[in-house]
Amino acid sequence: MKLKNIFKAALALALALSLAACSAKSPVEAAGTGASGTGKKVGVAMPTQSSQRWIQDGDNMRKELEALGYEVDLQYAEDDVQQQVSQIENLINNGADCLVVAAVDSAALVNALGQAKSNGIPVIAYDRLLMDTDAVSYYATFDNEGIGRIIGEYIEAKMSLATAKADGKTYNIEFFMGSPDDNNAVFLDRGLFSVLQQYLDSGVLVCQSGQTKFAQTNTLRWSQETAQKRCEDILSGYYAGGEHLDIIASAFDGLSYGCAAALMGAGYAIGNDWPIITGQDAELMAVKNIIAGSQAMSIFKDTRELSKKCVTMVQAVLEGKDPEINDKTTYNNNKLVVPSYLCIPIPVDTANYKEQLVGSGYYTEDALK
Ligand code: BGC
Repeated sequence: MKLKNIFKAALALALALSLAACSAKSPVEAAGTGASGTGKKVGVAMPTQSSQRWIQDGDNMRKELEALGYEVDLQYAEDDVQQQVSQIENLINNGADCLVVAAVDSAALVNALGQAKSNGIPVIAYDRLLMDTDAVSYYATFDNEGIGRIIGEYIEAKMSLATAKADGKTYNIEFFMGSPDDNNAVFLDRGLFSVLQQYLDSGVLVCQSGQTKFAQTNTLRWSQETAQKRCEDILSGYYAGGEHLDIIASAFDGLSYGCAAALMGAGYAIGNDWPIITGQDAELMAVKNIIAGSQAMSIFKDTRELSKKCVTMVQAVLEGKDPEINDKTTYNNNKLVVPSYLCIPIPVDTANYKEQLVGSGYYTEDALK
């Protein structure tokens, strides 16, 4: 090559390199724009759109991940176990680099998650622990036993249970717990009874139906209809003779709606002889019910916070970063203790919903009207 041509070639190469440098972002620049996940696919498997919270969870996850440059495939299984299995298999076959899973029934997912593992696809458990599998890397959730404890403490404070014995007071209570295939439901039940069992033992709380064990009080798939039917049966079977139901310990807003419908059907009136009804998720409808008086409280689980924590776990498994973990002991899924981040649940009622929910921008004042 002549000297002139060598010079031309060198110039062309320098130009090409400088153009490439302009278009490809350095790692520092990519971090600055948040586009660190460019080109990677994240499959997100959510349980159902029948409850507002999971719609928010899905939306938040999509938003957070896309902002980082990930491609997102978001699937809802509508509480159908087999549908979720197929969705996860499809996500694997369609080339997901990472899976985020909030299970309908995690026992049914063991094989599909094993498949993910053998394909080198890391899995993050979202809010619900994935049981009986070693294919899970991290778990983003709330303090589920803490939620049960908070609900118990709310009932304890509202009904002044600590002094009820001395005051000669007793209250009738019924329990509506979550789905038996969801580890969260078991943890919540445990937390609840860590506070209330003493009052059942001392006779301050009376469960007329006698249904206090989780095996009796659970509600498959957290179904509102199932809770309503069970509450109707309890009201007609144990409260038709003049007994008054004072407290419904409900583990989820959807169950609370079902119980409220059953109470109305049985002639209970809001503001008059209406029982204290608890809940979980601070769904928009539940907060409206709290304002209207048909529900006493709910648990605010800030899904924005949860999805942020989950996204740091996705980044960790895909980019070799360290996610923030604050629990390494609680969540044993029968195969391993899954490193977890537990977000903080907050009880909300008429006294603090404005501060917690409107103040934090979770709901607008208008949406609550
Ligand atoms: C979640 C709750 C939710 C329930 C029903 C549980 O796994 O922890 O927040 O209320 O599922 O969807």
